Amino acid sequence: MTIDINIIDKEFKEYVKNFDMDNKDIFLKYEHTFEVVNIMEKICKKLNLSEEQTSLAKAIAYFHDLGRFEQLRRTSTYRDDLLDHAEYGADLLIKEEYIKKFSIDEKYYQIIEKAVRHHNKLEVNEELSSEEELQVKLIRDADKIDIYRVMVKFFENNFLVMPSQKVLNEFYNHKSINKKDIKNKSDSLICQMAFTFDLNYEESKEVLKETRYYQDYINSINVSDEEEVKEVFEKVKLEIYKYLNIEES
Ligand SMILES: [Fe+2]
Repeated sequence: MTIDINIIDKEFKEYVKNFDMDNKDIFLKYEHTFEVVNIMEKICKKLNLSEEQTSLAKAIAYFHDLGRFEQLRRTSTYRDDLLDHAEYGADLLIKEEYIKKFSIDEKYYQIIEKAVRHHNKLEVNEELSSEEELQVKLIRDADKIDIYRVMVKFFENNFLVMPSQKVLNEFYNHKSINKKDIKNKSDSLICQMAFTFDLNYEESKEVLKETRYYQDYINSINVSDEEEVKEVFEKVKLEIYKYLNIEES
């Protein structure tokens, strides 16, 4: 095997030693990485992928948010318009050759680069080979699934005001929502819920359901007492439950 997950795990932990784990956001991304690795393993199993494809997918899960640590140190935000963490991570690994520390066969470098670079983009437009496409889709799915766990554990989720009409329209068309259309907190929650429509594999939807991260997320949301807002929330909630085939609980 030309990808040894133990080496990757060890070297990833070495890399993050350069950052302050007492910083909540840094710790969040550290924990997120391991959780994405776990989720990735579950998806790969359901898809019956080969040992090689699974190891590569897990390696990419370790690498996908490497750029978050530097982004947080430099900007104290998750803002990709200030420093795109996917571009930074891909450059660090490939252009600056940080990947050499991980003892991975060079034949995987290009797939790893594409997967890391594309993992955070609204959509992927570049022509990709079938193995590249597989890995890009896998990391985009695994990453999105863990967002719901992160939101419950680290954030307060409020749906207290009416969402914007444009965001609602995109949501009901099952489209990903553009960050520039987000005008209030309810819009951001709808944007997060809409990530579900962007899952590439039925198997990823199954993993999302089985982990219960989505249901826990919905149940964690503070909803306004105003009838009008409540009604919109209930409809939005049911739309995804229907999409995922979740019985209400
Ligand atoms: Fe990311």
